[in-house]
Amino acid sequence: MRDELLDPSANPVFDEYQPSAADIGDEGGLRPRQLEEFVGQSELKEHLGIILEAARRRGQAADHLLFAGPPGLGKTTLAGIVATELGVALHVTSGPALERAGDLAAILTRLADGDVLFIDEIHRLSRAVEEVLYPAMEDFQLDIVLGKGPAARSIRLDLPRFTLVGATTRTGLITGPLRDRFGLVARLDYYSVGDLEAIVTRAAGILGVEIDGAGAHEIARRARGTPRIANRLLRRVRDYAEVRSGGTIDEQTARDGLAVFGVDDLGLDKVDRAILSAICERFGGGPVGLSTLAISVGEPTESVEDVYEPFLIQQGLLMRTPRGRVVTPLAWRHLGLVAPPSAPLAAGGEPPTLFE
Ligand SMILES: Nc1ncnc2c1ncn2[C@@H]1O[C@H](COP(=O)(O)OP(=O)(O)O)[C@@H](O)[C@H]1O
Ligand SMILES: [Mg+2]
Repeated sequence: MRDELLDPSANPVFDEYQPSAADIGDEGGLRPRQLEEFVGQSELKEHLGIILEAARRRGQAADHLLFAGPPGLGKTTLAGIVATELGVALHVTSGPALERAGDLAAILTRLADGDVLFIDEIHRLSRAVEEVLYPAMEDFQLDIVLGKGPAARSIRLDLPRFTLVGATTRTGLITGPLRDRFGLVARLDYYSVGDLEAIVTRAAGILGVEIDGAGAHEIARRARGTPRIANRLLRRVRDYAEVRSGGTIDEQTARDGLAVFGVDDLGLDKVDRAILSAICERFGGGPVGLSTLAISVGEPTESVEDVYEPFLIQQGLLMRTPRGRVVTPLAWRHLGLVAPPSAPLAAGGEPPTLFE
């Protein structure tokens, strides 16, 4: 790690993780910029509002913030909002992009007072990089080693006070020492249908799409509790409406459009259904281990665990048990299948409890 700190500014990786407007500002201009425009997550919004207001009044950088939750719930959006609300620059990078300690040192030395540094997928930082981050977060200091071998000497640089915003799909993946250095650790939850309706309606306004309440409701209902998916479904239904039915999105257009694109009544997509039907049809309803399941649907274990399963579990279609994944009676019904008597949970529909 030491030699890597030699000359951070000469690091070739640096250009790749320059703050990029495309990373943060894009998504067709749909990303909320101000806390006020951010729909839902009211408790988190309240906490964040207080933290940001206090920082503004003190004229200081805000505490370091960690946002955790499945993809598409608004973590990156919140990082942008923090910078906007504080009126400071946003620097964007990610765990996998920071391969060596010098990569992080290069970024840290370019921060200005009060700036926000956003590290996406922060659970994927290497140990060496994480160790540079600790003193930077806590004491705003950076230890740099100059030279090699016996002639090497170490200097300590003062860093500007900055706010680190981290994002991760699961807080459980973050090491204890790193988590402890955040002033706020916030979990984002799946959104209610009502919140997603508001998000769809807002996005339709920005995209110039005509949609009625029932149309927005239908899209919201099938968006897997996820704003990014709501926006994606809106775009697909808009395409469908323009080509097939005069452009306006009502309930029927939304239904027909979503059916064309393979989104079912619960909002499950092809992979969601593949996971459930693999467990039902190939493994008799389970239990089946995560890696076997991932291989049988051709997805990486990480995305099965972080992207697909949380929603299936939340919907009561799937359960994690100590012996593996098990589908619920609801899943059999949803797929139009009849559970064999041997399937776990087949008879009663209630998961086994301690008292049985
Ligand atoms: N609370 C919200 N209100 C409105 N739109 C949202 C909200 N959260 C997310 N979005 C939309 O969903 C998209 C995905 O959000 P993003 O912040 O990239 O998710 P994550 O970083 O958690 O994967 C954004 O472009 C934005 O348009
Ligand atoms: Mg993101």
